[in-house]
Amino acid sequence: MKLSQDFVPDDDLNKQLRSAKSQLALYAKDLKALLSRERKKSYKLETTNKQLQAYAQDLKAAYAAQQQKTRELEKAYADTVVRLTLASRYKDEETGAHIQRLSHYSKILALVTGLDEQDAQLIFDAAPMHDVGKVGIPDRIMQKPGPLDEEEWEIVKRHPVLGANLLAGSPSLLLQTARDIALTHHERWDGSGYPQGLKGEAIPLGGRMVMLGDTYDALRSMRPYKPALPHKKTCNIILNGNERTRPGHFDPTLLEAFREQHLEFDRIFSEIREEEDGRS
Ligand SMILES: [Fe+2]
Ligand SMILES: [Fe+2]
Repeated sequence: MKLSQDFVPDDDLNKQLRSAKSQLALYAKDLKALLSRERKKSYKLETTNKQLQAYAQDLKAAYAAQQQKTRELEKAYADTVVRLTLASRYKDEETGAHIQRLSHYSKILALVTGLDEQDAQLIFDAAPMHDVGKVGIPDRIMQKPGPLDEEEWEIVKRHPVLGANLLAGSPSLLLQTARDIALTHHERWDGSGYPQGLKGEAIPLGGRMVMLGDTYDALRSMRPYKPALPHKKTCNIILNGNERTRPGHFDPTLLEAFREQHLEFDRIFSEIREEEDGRS
């Protein structure tokens, strides 16, 4: 009798089953080892991840502390310079109210011409220091009641450079901006200003803004040698010129911003007045 082809005697079957079983046991062992390795790996990854998160938190805390220190340092710088600015006021006809108004005029110009709030605030904070160099001009000139002669006038014209030297070399962005403004707030767009005769965009934006605000405020203010002008007349001089002031002195973009916002200038001038002596 011929046995069918798939007939396997019991012994052989048992052998094959045993071998398959032990093969499976080996696979199971391998899988177990693999699983345990993977678990170890993922545990390691988890630990590393936790460590990284802890480092990140440390870094964040260190960065926040550093930023706080930088802010404190900036405040200390600003405080020193405010004191310098106060010192310069003792020598000058320009008052505290003038300085405050100048910050506001400059910020309006900064915002209207598209600077963001942070940069506009920087100019706001730096503008009061524009005349700090006047501390270096002799009293006999600063407090002379009558008009200055040519030689005296040349000495007064040194105040932008003196101010810039006082403010120079600081790591503070505030003082760097203040230094640029102090140096260039008498420059004119058409190149006819001082001390360097800079032209157009070679004049830092902050300097151009303070120059326009300073001109508006000086025209509105009474001086021993001139009366205070009303807002309308002042606008007319800035926008159309007179014998001393030309529209070409100003950055055309800022002049447009002034044309748009002139009522704000008037509001600031009326709201921020010198309480003690009416010199503004
Ligand atoms: Fe000045
Ligand atoms: Fe001024």
